[in-house]
Amino acid sequence: EFQENTVITVFGASGDLAKKKTFPALFGLFREGHLSASTKIYGYARSHLSIEELKSRIRPFLKTPTEESKSKVEPFLDLISYISGPYDTNEGFIKLNDDIVKFEKDAKVEEPHRLFYLALPPSVFVDVAKQLKENVYATNGVTRIIVEKPFGHDLKSSRELQEQLAPLFKEEELFRIDHYLGKEMVKNLLNLRFGNQFLNSSWNKESIQSIQVSFKEPFGTEGRGGYFDSIGIIRDVIQNHLLQVLTLLTIEPPKSYDSESVRDEKVKLLKAIKPLDFNDLIVGQYTASEDGTKPSYLDDETVNPGSKAVTFAAIPLYIDNERWSGVPIVLRAGKALDVGKVEIRIQYKPTSPEVPSNELVIRIQPSEAIYIKLNTKQPGLSTSSTIVDLDLTYKNRFENFWIPEAYESLIRDSLRGDHSNFVRDDELDESWALFTPLLNHLESDSAPAPILYPYGSRGPKELSSFLEKHGYVFSETT
Ligand code: BG6
Repeated sequence: EFQENTVITVFGASGDLAKKKTFPALFGLFREGHLSASTKIYGYARSHLSIEELKSRIRPFLKTPTEESKSKVEPFLDLISYISGPYDTNEGFIKLNDDIVKFEKDAKVEEPHRLFYLALPPSVFVDVAKQLKENVYATNGVTRIIVEKPFGHDLKSSRELQEQLAPLFKEEELFRIDHYLGKEMVKNLLNLRFGNQFLNSSWNKESIQSIQVSFKEPFGTEGRGGYFDSIGIIRDVIQNHLLQVLTLLTIEPPKSYDSESVRDEKVKLLKAIKPLDFNDLIVGQYTASEDGTKPSYLDDETVNPGSKAVTFAAIPLYIDNERWSGVPIVLRAGKALDVGKVEIRIQYKPTSPEVPSNELVIRIQPSEAIYIKLNTKQPGLSTSSTIVDLDLTYKNRFENFWIPEAYESLIRDSLRGDHSNFVRDDELDESWALFTPLLNHLESDSAPAPILYPYGSRGPKELSSFLEKHGYVFSETT
C-alpha cells in the first residue's frame, strides 16, 4: 500500500496553505493508514521557528473524527522536523540534504523516495526547484515534486515557467495540483459516464440540451483582496478547477484509463473548444450586502481603488466536435453569493413539449450527491406525470465510507506516482490558450465595467435571462 521510509518535505511550511491543507492532508493519510509511521517529514521555510512552534501552528488543523484518531496526533507530529533557510541560496538545502541522507542511511534505504511539496508563491518556485535539483535530488531513487497553482498568469508566463522547470525535472517527476481533481465527485465522473449505458448512450448533442458547471461561494475575498485583485475569479477557479471538471465531463472515451490516455483525451477536448466570445458573457463584482453588514469588494484596502477585478463570471463554451457541437456549456463562478455550492447540471432535451426535461445533477460539494429528475406517474389513481428526484446522497447511502479530502487523495496519488489527477504541461498550455485572449480583453482599458451585485445575492440580476438564452430551463426546484 505504501513505501516505507519515504521522505516528504513541505516548503512554505510556516504558511497558510501548509497549515490548513498540506499537513492536515498528510495527517489524514497517516490517520487512515495510508502513510507509514516510517515516513520522515521535513517542514522548510524562511521563518525561524522551533519545532514546537511549528507543531502548535499545525495541531489545531488536524482532523480527529474519532476518539481513537486523537491518539494519532502526537505520533504524527513526531515524524516532523523543521529546517529554516532561504529559498534562493543553498545553505538550507545542503542542511536538508544532509539530514535526509542521514535519515536514509540510518534506515538502510537503498532506493530513496523523496517527495517535495512546494506550498509556495510562484515567485520562488524556480529558485527552489533549482536548489532542489542541485542539492537534494535523489540520483539513485525517485524524486517527485508537487507544485501548486497559479501556474503562470497567462499563456506566456505559464510557458516561461514551464521552460524554466523543464530542464530541471522530467514531466513524470512533476505533479501540478488542481485540487478539484482530487474531489470525490470529480474522480467519479468517468465511472459515472462510461459505466452506465443509459448515460453513456445519451451523452451527446442529440439528447443533451445544456450543461452548467457552477461554483458559488458565500464569502468574499476578505483578507485576500491584495492577492485576488490581479487574479480575478477566472484565473482563480474557472481556467483551472471548472475547466478540469468540464474536460472530464465531455472527453471522448479514452483508449484506456491510464493517466496518459485520459490526459491525451483532455488535451484533444480542450483544443476543440471554440474561441470564447467576448460579447457573450457576464462579469460581475460584488458591492456591500443589502443590509450593509458585509463589505463591498472595493472596501478592501488592499484592493486597487476603482479596480475592475471580476468576482463573478458566467462564460459559455462551445465544443466543436461531433458529440457536442451546438450544446451550450456554461461555466460560472462567483464569490460573495447567497450559498456555497459546487455542482454540475446536465439538462436533457424534453421528450415532448408537455413534460419537463430530465436533469442530472452532480453535486461536488457540500454533501456529495447525484440526483436525476425523473418523470413518473403520480402514484394512485391519477394518470398524470410528476417530476421527482431519484436521489443518491452519499451521506445516506455510503454512511461508513471515508471520503478523503482532495489533498489527501492527491498526495496519496503522487506518492504512488499516479499522474491521472494532475495537470499535464500540454493541458495547461491549452487551458491558458483558451482564456488568455479573454483575460487580456477584460484587463484592457476598453474593458467593460463588471456588473455590480450585492454581497449575499445570487449574482448579477442579468444571470437568469442569460442562462435561459443558453438553453437552461429553470424549474421550481432549481
Ligand atoms: C482555490 C481558490 O483554488 O479554490 C479559492 O484560490 C477558492 O479562491 C478555493 O476559495 C475553493 O476550493 P474549495 O475546495 O474550498 O471549493
